[in-house]
Amino acid sequence: MKVAEWRGKPVWILRRTPEMLASLKKNDALVADPDSDKSFQLDVPKYAKNEFRAYEKHKDLLVVVGICSHLGCSPSARFQEGAQPNLPDDWHGGFLCPCHGSTFDLSGRVFKNKPAPSNLDVPPYMYLSDNKIVIGKDEEKGEA
Ligand code: FES
Repeated sequence: MKVAEWRGKPVWILRRTPEMLASLKKNDALVADPDSDKSFQLDVPKYAKNEFRAYEKHKDLLVVVGICSHLGCSPSARFQEGAQPNLPDDWHGGFLCPCHGSTFDLSGRVFKNKPAPSNLDVPPYMYLSDNKIVIGKDEEKGEA
């Protein structure tokens, strides 16, 4: 995972393994908004309205704003699977907000019954080549 900065906000860029991607399906019934129908501060780009919250061709790469949709703390990466403090026993990896305990899966989707009302924002971004992205613009809306 790398952290970039866009408009003064941290943007997480996470390359997910095939195992991580497979685990997302198991969370569909446990997260509040599995297909990202609701937006937070940014409109959800069309390419992020799926369980991977990513371009179909590059679904391994997650790009999200690392700011909790509750009161703006920065969640921590908790990639280790299984039981551990403050996380459910069937944890498949994701993020934990240290402020009030909201949890997000490896697509930044918030789990049900948590203080955070919505998924982490996906900023506009696009691929310049297979290995290079630019954050802040996309083909859908142009420059944000
Ligand atoms: S700010 Fe993240 S749970 Fe409250």
